[in-house]
Amino acid sequence: SESYPSLKRDPKFAELTQDDVKYFKDLLGSGSAVIDGLSEEAGEDIEPFNSDWMRKYRGHAKLVVKPGSTEEVSKILKYCNDKMLAVVPQGGNTGLVGGSVPVFDEIVINLSRMNKIRSFDEVSGILVADAGVILETADSFLAEKKHIFPLDLGAKGSCQIGGNVATNAGGLRLLRYGSMHGNILGIEAVLPDGTIMDDLSKLRKNNTGYDIKQLFIGGEGTIGIITAISILCPQRSPAMNVAYFGLDSFEKVQQAFREAKNQLSEILSAFELMDGRSQKLYNRATGKKLPLEGEHPFYCLIETSGSNTDHDSEKLEAFLEHVMGEEIVADGVVAQDQTQMQSLWKCREGVPECLGHWGGVYKYDLSLPIAEMYDLVNETRDKLTRAGLVGDGEEHAVVDVVGYGHMGDANLHLNIATRRFDTAVEKELEPFVYEWVASRNGSISAEHGLGIAKKAFIGYSRSETMVKLMQQIKGLYDPNGIMNPYKYI
Ligand code: FAD
Ligand code: MLT
Ligand code: ZN
Repeated sequence: SESYPSLKRDPKFAELTQDDVKYFKDLLGSGSAVIDGLSEEAGEDIEPFNSDWMRKYRGHAKLVVKPGSTEEVSKILKYCNDKMLAVVPQGGNTGLVGGSVPVFDEIVINLSRMNKIRSFDEVSGILVADAGVILETADSFLAEKKHIFPLDLGAKGSCQIGGNVATNAGGLRLLRYGSMHGNILGIEAVLPDGTIMDDLSKLRKNNTGYDIKQLFIGGEGTIGIITAISILCPQRSPAMNVAYFGLDSFEKVQQAFREAKNQLSEILSAFELMDGRSQKLYNRATGKKLPLEGEHPFYCLIETSGSNTDHDSEKLEAFLEHVMGEEIVADGVVAQDQTQMQSLWKCREGVPECLGHWGGVYKYDLSLPIAEMYDLVNETRDKLTRAGLVGDGEEHAVVDVVGYGHMGDANLHLNIATRRFDTAVEKELEPFVYEWVASRNGSISAEHGLGIAKKAFIGYSRSETMVKLMQQIKGLYDPNGIMNPYKYI
């Protein structure tokens, strides 16, 4: 594959034949549930399934199948396993590590037709839904029932809840609601040999043996296909506030975070970080005016959600008075209505999309000790600047080096916005970034996973013993290795 010059197609996998395609068409019907790239007519239809959100990774699948039920997933996988046909599970295809597209000619199993909400219990707040339900659809359904999906992220309009679970996505409110490992109560999944693993429990507590569903959370489609989930959803808070601050140093951002935890405590639902450069690029790429007049090296977005508007406003006002009075924040604005809330959030959620505006972007998603988190952004920028790679003209590959992320989770997104993918830039970045992170016992992938992008670097964050145990698990569930090959481990 031209995207992966160092990789070779594994000859143990069979090549797709007309007979295989016929099997899938007989199973799923000859409508849009099968996109047959072996036939001339498929043409461009198959392209979007072969190419990732960043347009950085591109595979060569000749077949996309869209099962409509768990039984169909089971039949597809059993057939592929028996015939040694490699597969890639695919949700909304918004993943950021190249995990959701084939590397060579793996068959894409796309979950978009499995999009039914199965049940919701208004007393317990437990939602059971197919894996292919779009995150925003699930959350809108829950909103009507005064509940909220315990995960939110910028890709909510396209990503699927099965994909969110498969990547163990973190997102914008993890600080409040915790991770998928705690909120997912049950999983229905299909193993490569077609076995349906029905562990769609609706119990909060169940200490009866190993918690096997946890392996599918963050498993990135390497041991089976998630077909449904059961998830605990909190009550939706009727009182919401969003504030956007400008701050003069990263030291002050940390102070503001401490004060927010202290003073807003149980109503704090997000604390997001954006550096001044990320906001400038957001402004340049979208033409949207930034919320504050002056320029600041750092910005943060704070969201509160609680059950009592007066109580929350009182707390927020006291907090604002304190951080402004003590000059912890230099300037700030609080949203006055729903529209303003959304436009403040857009300054944070819109960053990933605008970074690709000039051509490409190198993305690093890191867990680091909070105090040192931003040093890496400065050091990376200095390094690339010294190498003469950063600047405004076409001759410079790098537009800018920015940092943003989930301050509340000590999760930094270091991004290098570029005009083109360039080996000179890559050489400066790697292994520098990974070594920097490893020397501080951080993680080289906090929330996006490994996919193909980070696979080779797992050793910076996991010991040989841990990687070996992972390989044993992979071998146990997927002895033929057909599930999302060439990735993860
Ligand atoms: P895909 O991209 O289709 O797949 C991702 C991986 O999961 C692949 O390895 C795939 O094989 C596997 N997979 C998908 N569905 C299944 C299934 N049913 N069974 C088994 N395996 C499956 N991530 C965060 O953690 N936090 C964020 O804040 C965040 N923000 C984002 C913002 C934007 C604008 C974008 C584009 C991405 C963002 N992401 C974020 C990345 C994130 O991983 C995805 O958005 C999302 O979780 C993936 O869901 P998806 O349905 O698109 O999965
Ligand atoms: C985010 O927090 O915006 C996402 O994880 C996407 C990204 O890192 O760009
Ligand atoms: Zn993120």
